[in-house]
Amino acid sequence: TIYRASTTAPVNIAVIKYWGKRDAKLNLPTNSSLSVTLSQADLCTTTTASCSASYTTADSLLLNSAPQTLETPRTQACLKALRSQRAALEEANSNLPKLSTFPLRIVSVNNFPTAAGLASSAAGFAALIRAIANLYELPANPSDLSIIARQGSGSACRSLFGGYVAWQAGEKADGSDSLAVEVAPASHWPEMRAVILVASALKKDVGSTEGMQLTVKTSTLFPLRANTIVPQRMEEMKKAIASKNFEDFARITMQDSNGFHATCLDTYPPTFYMNDTSRAAVRAVEAINRAAGKDVAAYTFDAGPNAVIYYLAENEGLVAGLFKSFLSHIDGWQVRRGQAIQASSA
Ligand code: DP6
Repeated sequence: TIYRASTTAPVNIAVIKYWGKRDAKLNLPTNSSLSVTLSQADLCTTTTASCSASYTTADSLLLNSAPQTLETPRTQACLKALRSQRAALEEANSNLPKLSTFPLRIVSVNNFPTAAGLASSAAGFAALIRAIANLYELPANPSDLSIIARQGSGSACRSLFGGYVAWQAGEKADGSDSLAVEVAPASHWPEMRAVILVASALKKDVGSTEGMQLTVKTSTLFPLRANTIVPQRMEEMKKAIASKNFEDFARITMQDSNGFHATCLDTYPPTFYMNDTSRAAVRAVEAINRAAGKDVAAYTFDAGPNAVIYYLAENEGLVAGLFKSFLSHIDGWQVRRGQAIQASSA
């Protein structure tokens, strides 16, 4: 018998950024973060996990048809956690097949550039964890699964929910309170839209894991950001979402992106994720907002040059239209559109 389960996980883009670990081994963050899950059908990872007593090779993973190693401490931590939860079920019910002892075969497809700062690790680990949890028939809710996904890649824990999601940094040393929770479902503010401007789909220069550790070690601005500014912003952002105040949402989003990239510049040696094209996108958003007389668009940049612009559906013409004509003057941009959604739970 071959046992099999499939799932799809969406990309999420943080409006309050996770940057910095208080425990690199357990992958615990220095600060809480908050994201919006995007609905683009073409921005997700689809993963099928199967296992069988008849599989003779060790656990394996194919990503976009290429074999990948599962022998990284982070992936092993995830597989170990899932197997031990399954083993506990098998212990309690001897009629269950001993799936926890079978080799796993995992097949994943990303329909967007891997590691280009498009949150591919987030959707990837979220899909991996949920596919295996489904295969093992674990009675886990998204927050429980987020604890496992977090160990694979921090931002992945937020992709287990749709809509508006917080990753609570937590305080416990074992990480048991460092998990994702829903701030609001997508249906609370369904007018939210995002457009992604792909400035470069190349692999980023400095990966997030490495980059954030160097920031924690060397940036003098970082402690202020992590300990004082971000905790305040988390509260303000939750209020902005609860009251559907787009101007506050936009201002906090842009300030947090700028603050995060300021700590990257303050890292020694400095890390540059934004490039000239990214800065042109910032100016374009500023021009749109100036013309509208209020903030109708908000940019945010992860650890790469690509921009994500949030706006409301009512401003689609203004933002996407103006952006498109502005961008036609800039080489190298692709524009994708999507809206915030509720991630499927299966
Ligand atoms: C800038 O989740 O990729 O996108 O936990 O080391 O895998 P690891 O880092 P990762 O970092 C994401 C950083 C970010 C901000 C964010 O998504 O909150």
